[in-house]
Amino acid sequence: MLNIKKRLIFVSPFVLRKFTTMKENRGSFSGKLGVVAVAAGSAVGLGNIWRFPYIAGENGGGAFLIVYLIFVFLIGVPVMLSEFAIGRKAGCNAYGTFKRLSPKGGWWLVGLMGIIAAVMIFSFYGTVAGWTLEYVKKSICNDFAGQDVAALAQTFGDFTSQPVMPTVWMIIFVALTALVILFGVEKGIEKVSKVLMPILLVLIIAICVRAVTLPNASKGLEFLFKPDWSSLTFKGVLMALGQAAFSLSIGMGTMITYGSYIKKDTPLASTAIEIATCDTVVALLGAIMVFPTLAFLGAESAGGPGLVFITLPAIFQAMPGGYIFAILFFLLLSVAALTSTISLLEVPVAFLVDEFKMSRKKATLLSSSVIIFLGVFCTLSFGLLSDFTIFGKTIFDLFDYTTANIMLTFGALLIVIYVGWFFGRKKFIEELTAGGKGNVKLAKFISILVKFVAPVGIGLVAIGSLVIGGIV
Ligand code: PHE
Repeated sequence: MLNIKKRLIFVSPFVLRKFTTMKENRGSFSGKLGVVAVAAGSAVGLGNIWRFPYIAGENGGGAFLIVYLIFVFLIGVPVMLSEFAIGRKAGCNAYGTFKRLSPKGGWWLVGLMGIIAAVMIFSFYGTVAGWTLEYVKKSICNDFAGQDVAALAQTFGDFTSQPVMPTVWMIIFVALTALVILFGVEKGIEKVSKVLMPILLVLIIAICVRAVTLPNASKGLEFLFKPDWSSLTFKGVLMALGQAAFSLSIGMGTMITYGSYIKKDTPLASTAIEIATCDTVVALLGAIMVFPTLAFLGAESAGGPGLVFITLPAIFQAMPGGYIFAILFFLLLSVAALTSTISLLEVPVAFLVDEFKMSRKKATLLSSSVIIFLGVFCTLSFGLLSDFTIFGKTIFDLFDYTTANIMLTFGALLIVIYVGWFFGRKKFIEELTAGGKGNVKLAKFISILVKFVAPVGIGLVAIGSLVIGGIV
């Protein structure tokens, strides 16, 4: 566990982003630990604590978890390595990487789709990040005291359906992210995160200990760890793949950008395995907090986007020192979300700076304005616009579903096809082993995963979802 804690240290590379156009001038991570720390900072966020438990809950628990784990390691890690490899080779943003490596052909479209996905993800992610800020405030005001699960659900619904405050919090969160990128205070964030992220992990473990010792906890653990295959649909399998991509921040260019900062002599293969392990441990702990608590409360296992915002205040009430725990937890969750949104905003900003020679300031303002504009619609999806649906989904749900399950999945598929079949196996293995220094056998195995296993796996899931139904 100590090891994992160390890995959570967050070091942002974006201060180095000023040198984006000239590959020779690019800064780089200090070494392997730096890469792991920064990429884990992007990966670990609301996806682990907020999204994973409710998606797993809605799709059957244990069976979903097993499929998820297989996807993370057999598909997620190869995709992440493909992104690192081409990003480092080209030394460029997501779009520019494809333009440089394959000037002919339409591969740059993959990069462009990733940039659009980043903007869309931030638009709905900002809504939830805003909720975490409100929950910091509610925790400080001790608003949850004495509320049972029905009252907590009511509190969540009452707040998220208001038009003004959720929007204000969302705008504050996007502005905060923009400020970090704009003023280059990543160094400060780095230092703060180095202390805060390990504390978040300790808090999560403490909450898990309380959760598994609650009366009835075994029922929740059973739901999570005892697979009931009959509860897993094909749509559930697609959602496991989408969740794996979302949680690992792959399929849309963040890891391509990170790859461009990795030193040539850093071996890649073990790096990606460590990042994925770290991300998965936090997601698992997230689920271990939630499901035993649900069983204790006697509530249903599903629950939608409100799940952690309803169950966690309940568990804080059942903990000694719960008042302090609640404040610290929601505060640190906001910081974890911030380290992810920084990496999301950097994707369009780097693109605009590199390709349109825009100033960093202009690029940040333009990107965050678009995100806030779209974010308003996502935020209002829980109130004013709750009846406005497309394909039966609110705008928030549509953005969430489309990005994770379609754009990231499709992006990941095209990235492995590109690396496996067009980039060249020799070049790929050279990147993975840092010119033959790393584990060559492991690199060869991964190249097979990239060339055959990952594309066939993603392809089957995609075709299955289309044929058997449930994709939209
Ligand atoms: N992986 C982040 C999380 O789990 C979300 C994210 C997705 C960040 C894609 C960057 C890119 O919270």
